[in-house]
Amino acid sequence: MDELTTESRNNGTLVESVMATIRHRIAARVLTPGARLPSIRAFAKSMQVSKSTVVDAYERLAAEGDIRSRPGSGYYAAGPIAPLSLAEIGPRLDRAVDPLWVSRQSLEAGEDVLKPGCGWLPASWMPEGGLRRALRTVARADAATLADYGTPLGLPPLRHLLTRRLAAQGIDASPEQIMLTESDTQAIDLLCRFLLEPGDAVLVDDPCYFNFHALLRAHRVKVVGVPYTPSGPDIELFAQALAEHGPRLYITNSAIHNPTGAILSPVVAHRLLKLADQSGLTIIEDDIFADFEHTPAPRLAAFDGLDRVVYIGSFSKTLSASIRCGFIAAPRRWMEGLTDLKIATSFGNGRLASELVLTLLKDGLYRKHMDLLRARLSRAMAETTNRLRAIGITPWIDQPAGMFLWCSLPEGMDAADIARYALSANIVLAPGNAFSLSQSASRFMRFNVAQSSDERIFRTLEAAMARCD
Ligand SMILES: Cc1ncc(COP(=O)(O)O)c(C=O)c1O
Repeated sequence: MDELTTESRNNGTLVESVMATIRHRIAARVLTPGARLPSIRAFAKSMQVSKSTVVDAYERLAAEGDIRSRPGSGYYAAGPIAPLSLAEIGPRLDRAVDPLWVSRQSLEAGEDVLKPGCGWLPASWMPEGGLRRALRTVARADAATLADYGTPLGLPPLRHLLTRRLAAQGIDASPEQIMLTESDTQAIDLLCRFLLEPGDAVLVDDPCYFNFHALLRAHRVKVVGVPYTPSGPDIELFAQALAEHGPRLYITNSAIHNPTGAILSPVVAHRLLKLADQSGLTIIEDDIFADFEHTPAPRLAAFDGLDRVVYIGSFSKTLSASIRCGFIAAPRRWMEGLTDLKIATSFGNGRLASELVLTLLKDGLYRKHMDLLRARLSRAMAETTNRLRAIGITPWIDQPAGMFLWCSLPEGMDAADIARYALSANIVLAPGNAFSLSQSASRFMRFNVAQSSDERIFRTLEAAMARCD
């Protein structure tokens, strides 16, 4: 990482490249104010430049106030601590596969952009009529509902309803064990604050939902990937990672895995929990796609009885990503501490969002809406599979539930190159390495079948592949 790349050599003088490397370390907080810079000799050696280049670079950095010289002692980082810059933390990735960049492309895309790479359903698939009706119902609520803070745990009737819904999946969680959050993402963020210290190791699946990487980076932890198979994480390698890294936490989706659509098998679930028990590992089971499954899959939280597994979800994928409402079902002994942390970081819970979700879930509309969605997704899954197969793109597993198809491109193709080409044609794709910590998924791509009906997507893919061939 220290070596000057050809690119940086071409980007300016060697002195400027050395300066940029030091500035990058300051921005990434590898060098915090007061920290000693590497000696001129050592840095010259690691960068493969002459000592005079490093002397010049350090002198210029000192003149510009980034570092300070202490005669006889060396050079030290100066100034206030750099504001957190996630893009500077962790390995520098090609933008096409950087998790934050891929998310931004989808979130900021205009109306004219096609988004087979995004992770949500089109607005036209959401229950617009029900949403409008719920808004009208909530508009008639009392003044406190419209204007007061919600309690830190969140709206009691919605927590009671979630208790009943979780019971249907075999998960025994009393309303006192359920905390509402603004989203699934906020649930993970809160749990990371609750459970982790900077520098702790955290296991994720490889591949996994790319924002896990970005969020964990923000917590300054060491992220370790475990290869994912069609029946869950590779259990031998999982055991190895436990022994090698002593992780505090594992984050996964067991029912419908993002990006692969795979489902955890009961055997793997059983072995995972045994390993977690032996090593004191906590598991976050992110079940945001729970309501899309056709046949109920095993839930770690059900087997474990919410002891070392914490179960989270939200309504962003099923009802509305605009109404921000998610939840955590956690071990009883955590609730006091989680409540304090929730107050410290969010104060009260968003009351209006919870009221809207409660109204929608009570309406009876939800069940019908989900039945329709599942049927519509199955059709889209079959159509997209056929269209992709016809151009040589092959699904990793057959007909997964949910909205994602994890596919491999023909031999020798690089998904990032194809994604870059597609972006120039106003199509946002999700190249495999955005999901892969080990960067071993360059031939893979995730397709959201609900966003893949437009013929232009397949024509552009074909053209991109012909160029890359
Ligand atoms: C596995 C997973 N968790 C969480 C989220 C984000 O959910 P929310 O909008 O509730 O923060 C997504 C969105 O794609 C996801 O795929």
